[in-house]
Amino acid sequence: MTAQIIDGKAIAKECRKALKGRVKEFSEQYGHAPGLGVILVGEDPASAVYVRNKEKACARAGIASFHHDLPITATQEQVAKIIDEMNADSRVHGILLQLPLPKGLDEQAMLARIHPDKDADGFHPINAGYLAVGKDGYVPCTPKGVMTLIASTGQPIEGAHAVVIGRSNIVGKPQAQLLLQKNATVTICHSRTKNLAEVVGLGDIVVAAVGRPEMVKGEWIKKGAVVIDVGINRRDDGTLCGDVEFETAKERAGWITPVPGGVGPMTIAMLLENTLEGAIRAATR
Ligand code: GUN
Repeated sequence: MTAQIIDGKAIAKECRKALKGRVKEFSEQYGHAPGLGVILVGEDPASAVYVRNKEKACARAGIASFHHDLPITATQEQVAKIIDEMNADSRVHGILLQLPLPKGLDEQAMLARIHPDKDADGFHPINAGYLAVGKDGYVPCTPKGVMTLIASTGQPIEGAHAVVIGRSNIVGKPQAQLLLQKNATVTICHSRTKNLAEVVGLGDIVVAAVGRPEMVKGEWIKKGAVVIDVGINRRDDGTLCGDVEFETAKERAGWITPVPGGVGPMTIAMLLENTLEGAIRAATR
């Protein structure tokens, strides 16, 4: 059996199209566009590309973006000052502090400084807590996009065994919470998990978010499973690959996301959605 490819690029395009219509309606109704504040600290080339792509997507959707670059030498106080300014700026409805921050800056402290109502990434502890207790709040963009990709397969989540590989605050933990909310039986795996191959083999749904090239082997995958690959890694020869060994996994999976063109485009679409949500919150408060 060869898996059906989940076309994240096409699904994200549909999401962005729908969102553009909602942004237009919002802007006409309230007389201003939703706005995203973007803070980039340092010169990490991958982060610079992500930020540029996010800002381009904002412009196409009719969302204003307000960009602030800080040097790699920026102090905690300087980053905090920009966050405070964006918290107070009524044109900014969502704030994105691009991670990772340069060494020496306290990431958690900076994320907690973002006003929870403007937390477009859903990384503030209040929003993480809301997700954990099942209360409405901002949901982190990548796991939110993954839920849309899983839904696109038409496969049930309720009662399914979902295996999440990776336990980061950005993907693994919120992903597990979202799957649990949909009544999946959820297993979270990580670097200390014993018999990883066996555990992954139980998954009707597998979400790989470890950041290690092709570490999830195709032969581990249960026949017919939905496989979502969050990883985006560079092989030694410079080509891109995911966390899953795609060529072998697609011979066992029922559905699988490609890398690139799977999860990545969805993350950006969900960021736009969260920014609009922030604008609606501010306008209707
Ligand atoms: N770095 C890698 N992924 C993300 C993300 O989703 N949001 C932010 N702010 N930084 C990231």
